[in-house]
Amino acid sequence: MLTGAGISAESGVPTFRDSDGLWEGHDPQQVATPEAFEEDRALVQRFYDARRASLARVHPNAAHRALAELETVLGDDLFLVTQNIDDLHERAGSTRVHHMHGELLAAWCQACGHRMHWDGTLADEPDCPGCGTAALRPDVVWFGEMPYGMDEIHRALFSCDLFVSIGTSGVVYPAAGFVDYAIAGGSETLELNLERALNSDFHLSRQGLATELVPAWVAELSSAVGAPG
Ligand code: APR
Repeated sequence: MLTGAGISAESGVPTFRDSDGLWEGHDPQQVATPEAFEEDRALVQRFYDARRASLARVHPNAAHRALAELETVLGDDLFLVTQNIDDLHERAGSTRVHHMHGELLAAWCQACGHRMHWDGTLADEPDCPGCGTAALRPDVVWFGEMPYGMDEIHRALFSCDLFVSIGTSGVVYPAAGFVDYAIAGGSETLELNLERALNSDFHLSRQGLATELVPAWVAELSSAVGAPG
């Protein structure tokens, strides 16, 4: 299972690609790079500080909740990978979420490598609680950096029975290529998205709002596997 910005859109989380506005005069995609961080560290820290603070104003929606229910039905048979850096899956009740692009609520120290939960600001360049150096950055994966947990994700893709992609445009690799790994491994593939994604290799595709499509699909699957309710 792969989720993208589309699953959080109805919660009011602004996405990079769908947002039409600039942020402080910058294209958000231009801010999400190691080069941008090197050039203007304060600007990038402020961008992520603002996004981190905005989490307090959003809430999980019916699609996040349906996937949390699915975890109670499937247990370890559900492997949930998200490209999202928000914490809405966790707040809906999912307990095993693989954040391949990192998390807004985490920081890592460029001096000592220590990673930690972080819900405050970083633009004020606080000291790392581990080594005392003011070298913390958001623990998010920028364009050009290696996503987290790729070995485990590839194993899951090659061994799954069903790969489901929810709310992602299929523009950004490596996630955009997951459907092809799953097909190579013999999996069925299903896309739930507002529109057909760029990669049209899915066996099945349903178009609509995540808050409608995901609960309906979870109900179908749960009844097929004989879950109560
Ligand atoms: N329900 C379902 N799908 C939706 C909804 C909705 N309510 N709203 C938008 N979508 C769909 C859009 O049609 C689009 O196909 O969700 C998709 C969102 O695409 P992107 O904005 O490209 O987001 P995503 O695919 O997650 O981006 C991947 O790119 O910017 C980087 O690192 C960032 O993780 C992000 C990655």
